[in-house]
Formats: sequence, structure tokens, C-alpha cells
Amino acid sequence: MLKKKLREEIRRRKRQFTREQLRERSLPIVARLLAHPRIREAETVLLYYSLPDEVDTHNMADELLRQGKTVLLPVVMPRCGMQLRRYEGRGSMREDEFHILEPTGKPFTDYAQISVAVIPGMSFDARGNRLGRGKGYYDRFLKQLPHTYKIGVCFDFQRLEQVPVGANDIPMDEVVS
Ligand SMILES: Nc1ncnc2c1ncn2[C@@H]1O[C@H](COP(=O)(O)OP(=O)(O)OP(=O)(O)O)[C@@H](O)[C@H]1O
Ligand SMILES: [Mg+2]
Repeated sequence: MLKKKLREEIRRRKRQFTREQLRERSLPIVARLLAHPRIREAETVLLYYSLPDEVDTHNMADELLRQGKTVLLPVVMPRCGMQLRRYEGRGSMREDEFHILEPTGKPFTDYAQISVAVIPGMSFDARGNRLGRGKGYYDRFLKQLPHTYKIGVCFDFQRLEQVPVGANDIPMDEVVS
């Protein structure tokens, strides 16, 4: 299982940094995302609400809201895959049973409205191939968004020369790090 080995390698690289250092390193990445024409032009953006070891998107979610955009966040339903909910501000986030913050906003199902998606990953290569956490949630979900422009996001040190690709893996249109 090459993918498993690569996830271990990325986790090892992440451990070289403190949470604070990762937050600091997130700032220029988020600045690039906010300046990205696809995001500036979008009315509806699918984002993710970062975990402590991911590029920090918490302020970005608020900034997009402030700009009047519809911000969508994924919620993982262990048996039913991923669902989307509207982000309605920090006060609308609730801790789930695993202490992961999830949105309590209205479910969102009008996928055709989503012009751009910002997608986290364990790793990406230069061709946009993505390595996720290994459960296939994003791959299954992104199959339903064939017309959405997909931007993979990670820290520089998460990029690999080549990410192994399976038949179900959905590639990104671009990677920002
Ligand atoms: N569209 C799909 N239909 C059925 N099974 C899928 C689909 N996409 C992925 N899977 C399965 O999910 C499992 C995990 O896939 P993979 O190793 O590619 O995860 P990942 O892309 O790293 O993680 P994730 O997508 O959750 O971030 C694999 O067994 C894969 O075959
Ligand atoms: Mg995959």
C-alpha cells in the first residue's frame, strides 16, 4: 500500500511544525486563495473548515461571508458520505462527538451553483493528483461536481513528485500551496 506509506511520510513532515507555525504558514496561502480570480468571481464557494494540521481556513470562511458569498462546508456522515451545509458564522459551528467543528446551517443540495471548490489533501502532485486521508469521501462526493473548478490546498512540504492514482481518484484543476 504505497498510499499508506506516503500518508505516514506526510504526517511525519507535519510533526516538524507546531500548530502555531502551521497557522502562520497558512496566511500567505489563504491570501493567494482570496486573490484567486475563480474565488473572487464566485457567488458560491465550497470551502472546508480546517483541522489543526491543515491550512487554516477559519478566517477565510468569515472573509468570504463578509464579501456576501454563499460559503459551503462539508459534513462527513460516516454511512452516507459527505453532505454540504451553509456556513453562517462561527456561532453556528458545533463540536461533533469527535470534537470536530461542524456547521449547523441549512443543508445545501443545489450542486450546480458551486463554481469553485477548495479541497484539502494529505498531498498533491504537480498534475493535480490528490492523496486524501484514505476514506474516499471527497472522491465519492466530487464525482457529483463535474463542472466545479477544483483547487487543492496544502502546505508546500506536503507536495510530492508523484501521487499514486486509482480509478476513483478525482484530480484537481490546480493546487495552491
Ligand atoms: N467513487 C468511489 N466509489 C467507490 N469507492 C470509492 C470511490 N472513491 C474512493 N473509493 C474508495 O475509498 C477508499 C479510499 O480511497 P483513497 O485511498 O483514494 O482515499 P483518499 O482519496 O486518499 O481519501 P479521501 O478521498 O477520503 O480524502 C478506496 O477503497 C477507494 O476505492
Ligand atoms: Mg482518493
